[in-house]
Amino acid sequence: MAHRALCLAPCAVRPEQQRTGAGSAAVRAALSAAQRLGEHHVVVLGHPAYYPRFGFTRASDSGIRLTIDVPDEALMALTLDAGHPLPSGTVRYAAPFGI
Ligand SMILES: CC(C)(COP(=O)(O)OP(=O)(O)OC[C@H]1O[C@@H](n2cnc3c(N)ncnc32)[C@H](O)[C@@H]1OP(=O)(O)O)[C@@H](O)C(=O)NCCC(=O)NCCS
Repeated sequence: MAHRALCLAPCAVRPEQQRTGAGSAAVRAALSAAQRLGEHHVVVLGHPAYYPRFGFTRASDSGIRLTIDVPDEALMALTLDAGHPLPSGTVRYAAPFGI
């Protein structure tokens, strides 16, 4: 069964503005907007020390994987709705991602 999900990426802050809260504000705004729009799930491929603060957990713990090899801890997932727990399965990115 297929489940629709969002991909949070890429996320970057200009070097001179980093560590001022801009990245966190942008991520929180994006996740809030997604929740308001009724989205249920988000995946991110990124720094495992950064994204857990937004609620992301290691995707493999939920049986979620990619079609390519990535460091296990770098693929994370989040549910925006407690009524829709993370489904297990393989993430298939939209064609423009080239994955
Ligand atoms: C990662 C990034 C988006 C974070 O944005 P930011 O505005 O600098 O971060 P914030 O000010 O909101 O948050 C600061 C926190 O993020 C942590 N952090 C920043 N960059 C980090 C990184 N590369 N890895 C892990 N943690 C990072 C800081 O240690 C700080 O943690 P603390 O709150 O526990 O002290 C930004 O540093 C960036 O653009 N980095 C280069 C591009 C990149 O690596 N993007 C990620 C692709 S997935």
